[in-house]
Amino acid sequence: MKCVTIGIVQSNQKIADQIFLATIEVLEIARQCLPGQFVNIYFPDSVKLFPRPFSIAGVSGKSILILYKVIGSQTTLMSRWQMGHQIKLLGPLGNSFTISEDKSIEYILLAGGVGAAPLMFFRDELVKRNIKPHFFIGAKTKSELPIIEDDKSDLILTTDDGSKGFKGTVIEHFEDFLKNIRHPVSLNVCGPDSMMSALKNISFPDNVTINVSLEKTMACGLGLCQGCVVKTTSGKYNGHYALVCKDGPVFNLNDVEFDE
Ligand SMILES: Cc1cc2nc3c(=O)[nH]c(=O)nc-3n(C[C@H](O)[C@H](O)[C@H](O)COP(=O)(O)OP(=O)(O)OC[C@H]3O[C@@H](n4cnc5c(N)ncnc54)[C@H](O)[C@@H]3O)c2cc1C
Ligand code: FES
Repeated sequence: MKCVTIGIVQSNQKIADQIFLATIEVLEIARQCLPGQFVNIYFPDSVKLFPRPFSIAGVSGKSILILYKVIGSQTTLMSRWQMGHQIKLLGPLGNSFTISEDKSIEYILLAGGVGAAPLMFFRDELVKRNIKPHFFIGAKTKSELPIIEDDKSDLILTTDDGSKGFKGTVIEHFEDFLKNIRHPVSLNVCGPDSMMSALKNISFPDNVTINVSLEKTMACGLGLCQGCVVKTTSGKYNGHYALVCKDGPVFNLNDVEFDE
């Protein structure tokens, strides 16, 4: 049974418009977490409020990294965190991305905005094993692009308006790239639902395995409230609903369905 633990904010830096990168010292989580897993962050008013889930964006010594976008009440509080601030958190939660034993596999990471978070951590794990992935990150415009220092992967940036990197959506650019891929591919994706639906409309060659990390709104984050269901196909989950917090957040794209 996991317990709520205390983390200490080491830094909390604004890196793009409404996007921050926080470093939180929390050894119990840092020493065991895997890429794709997330933490529940509890806020002072959490008697009334549910915790908020955030992907672990990396590990640095005793600390974990959280890449987050300010969109509402609790992420606004996070943006005010100062060094030394103590927070309550639970984790690591959920499942993870996987690395195959097959050395011929090429890894592609595809992120929409702060969907880059779990993929940054996955990139670090791949690099530790001498695998250099292709890392696509897209946003609407330059100021919303979570630019992360990266000489570890082949980084490909896109913006819808062309203000940074390639013009167009990250999916459009990825589709062009896919045409020239010959090896088996492990495609790992995190982004908004619209991006996941767009992926469903691509006809992928058989040698591409697609894993998606879903960001459903959650309540308990622990598999208790049934608040984070995702519709599944007839595959692994037999057409039943799966829980993003417990069965996921990482799913094979073919196992899940999205509302158009
Ligand atoms: C497994 C998982 C991992 C996540 N990882 C990250 C991460 O690494 N970085 C990050 O910035 N965010 C991440 N999120 C989303 C994050 O949890 C929400 O942004 C956060 O809970 C918003 O809290 P808030 O109080 O600021 O916003 P609220 O005031 O609760 O909500 C503001 C608005 O955003 C909508 N909203 C809230 N949560 C979500 C969501 N999950 N998806 C879409 N819309 C939502 C609400 O419906 C509302 O309209 C993750 C979510 C999940 C489920
Ligand atoms: S958030 Fe409660 S079951 Fe998933």
